[in-house]
Amino acid sequence: MEYVQLGKSDMKVSRITFGAMELGGGNAFASGAHRWELKPDEENMKLLRTAFEQGVNSFDTAEIYGAGHSEWVVGKALKDIRKDCIIATKVSPHHLRPNDIRMALSQSMFRLDTDYIDLYYIHAPSKDIPIAETMDELNKLKKEGIIRAIGVSNFSLEQLKEAMAYGQIDAIQPEYNLLQRKIEQDLMGFCRENSVSIMSYNSIAKGILTGVFHHGKQVNDFRKERPLFQPESLQITRELIDAMQVIADAKGAALAQIAIHWLFHQPGFTSAIIGTQNEKHFLDNVKAVEIQLSQDEVTQLDLISKKVLEKLG
Ligand SMILES: NC(=O)c1ccc[n+]([C@@H]2O[C@H](COP(=O)([O-])OP(=O)(O)OC[C@H]3O[C@@H](n4cnc5c(N)ncnc54)[C@H](OP(=O)(O)O)[C@@H]3O)[C@@H](O)[C@H]2O)c1
Repeated sequence: MEYVQLGKSDMKVSRITFGAMELGGGNAFASGAHRWELKPDEENMKLLRTAFEQGVNSFDTAEIYGAGHSEWVVGKALKDIRKDCIIATKVSPHHLRPNDIRMALSQSMFRLDTDYIDLYYIHAPSKDIPIAETMDELNKLKKEGIIRAIGVSNFSLEQLKEAMAYGQIDAIQPEYNLLQRKIEQDLMGFCRENSVSIMSYNSIAKGILTGVFHHGKQVNDFRKERPLFQPESLQITRELIDAMQVIADAKGAALAQIAIHWLFHQPGFTSAIIGTQNEKHFLDNVKAVEIQLSQDEVTQLDLISKKVLEKLG
């Protein structure tokens, strides 16, 4: 496993971050608490331990995932190794007023069975609550030693700059993968220049970049409504999957490993957050750190992905 510095903090995170949304349930406030089948908690806790044994020290959850269930599973699984883990959780946009932040944070810590949070993200910007108010409280919590670093998620460049005017932001969590590259237009360069770590979610496009859905696997959860899972999109993205397959075959690698390793070649990129409840999938994904991509292969993937993105419109 490789470890990379988290922003300007004194923490180092593994190149792979374990995304714990999948093993807790979906966005509870969007009627999505059970948008897919949950494996038994014991099995998921075992998987979190396997991740740690494989060198993953970075874990990502949120108060909203399964209405706190994800935090509870993570806390229970990592209890005795807490100090060796970098645990990130997120405060929801409707909790961004100072008193609400304190309350949300203490509840998250209760579920996570910890008295500090390593990386505390604003899950998404609020339209109503001034960022100055939120940052002021987060800065106080940092001074008090209750949180070690502040992060933001789903922020635009302008929103990030505004937040940074009030305090240090060590990480941003945007959507980023070979089929979603908007952050390259502005956020990435700024983050690189200002030492803000990029922790991607949707790193394998919710499974699309593993190729299994191009090869006949049917999706039977919330993803069946997602644009990339529609037959027309699968047909367009097939060109990228085929190119990835040629590269993967030559290395005896899995497609997911190619998709994930490509992220490591992007300047300023820090850690790929990937979610799974499946041990085999996890073990495939974590090997992405070990494979090598030549500069030619990276360029080839870059060009085909851009071509496919243009076709997707
Ligand atoms: N900040 C935000 O707003 C935000 C939003 C969404 C997610 N997240 C974070 O990002 C994490 C990842 O979630 P994501 O939605 O971004 O999805 P993702 O990691 O791109 O993909 C996860 C999906 O892919 C499947 N998968 C994983 N590895 C696979 C493999 N090797 N082969 C086949 N299928 C595989 C998983 O199902 P199986 O269980 O079958 O493997 C799961 O359904 C979440 O846990 C959460 O921590 C953050």
